[in-house]
Amino acid sequence: MIKAKSGEKIFTEKCTQCHKLDERYTGPALRDVTSRRTPEFILNQILNPEEMTKRHPEVKKMLAQYATQMTFQNVSEDDAKAILEYLRSVNK
Ligand code: HEC
Repeated sequence: MIKAKSGEKIFTEKCTQCHKLDERYTGPALRDVTSRRTPEFILNQILNPEEMTKRHPEVKKMLAQYATQMTFQNVSEDDAKAILEYLRSVNK
């Protein structure tokens, strides 16, 4: 899918500095994230990570666990949706 492809490109540019698909890195491994979280959660986390650590109990826990605050990577809403499609496509 075209959207997943462009999502892969954005993911490689803006997310792989902290995330791998299959191993914990600075942040959690993301291959199965679309099974663990709702699309809304994932989009919110990409678009507003600081707000999520303040408001969402699960994300607060992750912040304690990973000891790093994910930062906004200047992605548009369309970029975030493309990344979501990419993450769906890698989940098996
Ligand atoms: C500076 C490092 C960093 C960057 C860059 C980063 N993340 Fe994160 N990410 C984290 C950390 C650390 C967490 C967990 C704690 C938190 O939310 O701060 C996280 C959490 C997440 C989660 C929730 C995972 C779960 O198991 O619930 C998703 C989804 C996510 N990131 C996606 C992305 C995407 C997509 C990008 C690129 C646009 C990105 N991240 C860029 C560090 C980063």
